[in-house]
Amino acid sequence: MIPSRVIEQKRDGGAIDGKALAAFLAAYLEGSVPDYQMAAFLMAAFHQGLDAEETEVFVHTMLHSGTVLDLGHLPGPRIDKHSTGGVGDKVSIALAPLVAALGIYVPMMSGRGLAHTGGTLDKLEAIPGFRTDLSLDEFQRVLGEVGCAMIGQTAEIAPLDGRLYALRDVTATVPIRPLIAASIMSKKLAEGLTGLVLDVKVGAGAFIPEEHRAIELAQTMVEIGVGRGLPTVALLTAMDRPLGYAIGNALETAEAILCLSGEGPEDLRVIVQLQAVEMVRLAEPGLAEQAAVSRVEAALDSGAALARLARLVEAQGGDTGVIDSPERLVTAPERLDVVAAGAGTVLAVAPKMLGQGVVALGGGRRNMDQKPDLSVGFQMHVQPGDEVSAGDLLATVHARDAEGANTGEHVVRRAVTVGDVEQAPELRQLVSHRVDERGVVPL
Ligand code: URA
Repeated sequence: MIPSRVIEQKRDGGAIDGKALAAFLAAYLEGSVPDYQMAAFLMAAFHQGLDAEETEVFVHTMLHSGTVLDLGHLPGPRIDKHSTGGVGDKVSIALAPLVAALGIYVPMMSGRGLAHTGGTLDKLEAIPGFRTDLSLDEFQRVLGEVGCAMIGQTAEIAPLDGRLYALRDVTATVPIRPLIAASIMSKKLAEGLTGLVLDVKVGAGAFIPEEHRAIELAQTMVEIGVGRGLPTVALLTAMDRPLGYAIGNALETAEAILCLSGEGPEDLRVIVQLQAVEMVRLAEPGLAEQAAVSRVEAALDSGAALARLARLVEAQGGDTGVIDSPERLVTAPERLDVVAAGAGTVLAVAPKMLGQGVVALGGGRRNMDQKPDLSVGFQMHVQPGDEVSAGDLLATVHARDAEGANTGEHVVRRAVTVGDVEQAPELRQLVSHRVDERGVVPL
């Protein structure tokens, strides 16, 4: 295998022979193909795509680049969920303890911020002391004791995905549909699951904004999962506006805690509940939908889910004081309120601009070595459709310094459009499609 030949073939639109592609990926993992050659390949793949066979090579090589867990000793079903990435998407932090409180094991391996989207690991690390770098032994111990555990790929789980994920983040090569599918499914298949729920984001803030392509992504992932014996269900959820009001790592963690406290935004709660219901039904096939809904509501309303989050935080070394006092999360020194210049309807809150704004404030990565500032971001006060008067709060910028606050204000002013209600674009339905092995069902 000659790396430049593999790159050239992809650049020119050819399909790469399976053995050559596997060798190229293996050489990248062991270091003889450097980042710059892999980056060139990824950019070629961005333009030329990857076919089903190439995608399969990615899934297989990523999955077997590390340990594949066997969690068969656990006395219950093992179900996880993964999102394709969005802005304000803090669902996992509320969902994992909620589902664990229902007696389902949730061995969750998440990602870091990717391009303009945030990552669950970064959000969790906004909790002082919280460790996402557990060894696999520690991970399994926490999972057994608490019912859920949350870590990243580590060097042991799908390390090839970990390397490629970080490289794609900083080389503008995230939106390659088959690679998103392979990246997500390799991690999930390594977790030793008995069921998987996928949250496929669709709309301007998603990596794959167009509905028909998002459906294809969902179908590809469901096929990969089911083809390997993992029952997999995908929900398409709206990302034409941010989810909830908080955007930025610590702010989002606080909002996820609020959600489990019975407060917090309606859209977040709906998505958390619907995904939890899917997870419960994968854990117990045949259970009536209404029965699953009642169980999920009971775990939220009784405080069991919030208590389970506290146990998770404690087990992973974090400050459990954040549960009652979210101000103990890392906080930014500078705050700036941005108010509406005039009256009208909020026509749009552009998710990608705000996600990129978080990166501009220092809350994401511009290169692979950068550590994000977890405290910065935007606390929005409006969602599309809200009516505002001149002087009403649109957002509060959380920044490191006055310069960051000014940058943040500029971002908010571009991202939030206020105008005449007649011009309001139609919003996507919060959850629009369900995809499983039987097909695609519009909801
Ligand atoms: N989430 C992942 O884990 N991988 C991707 O490529 C995109 C979102």
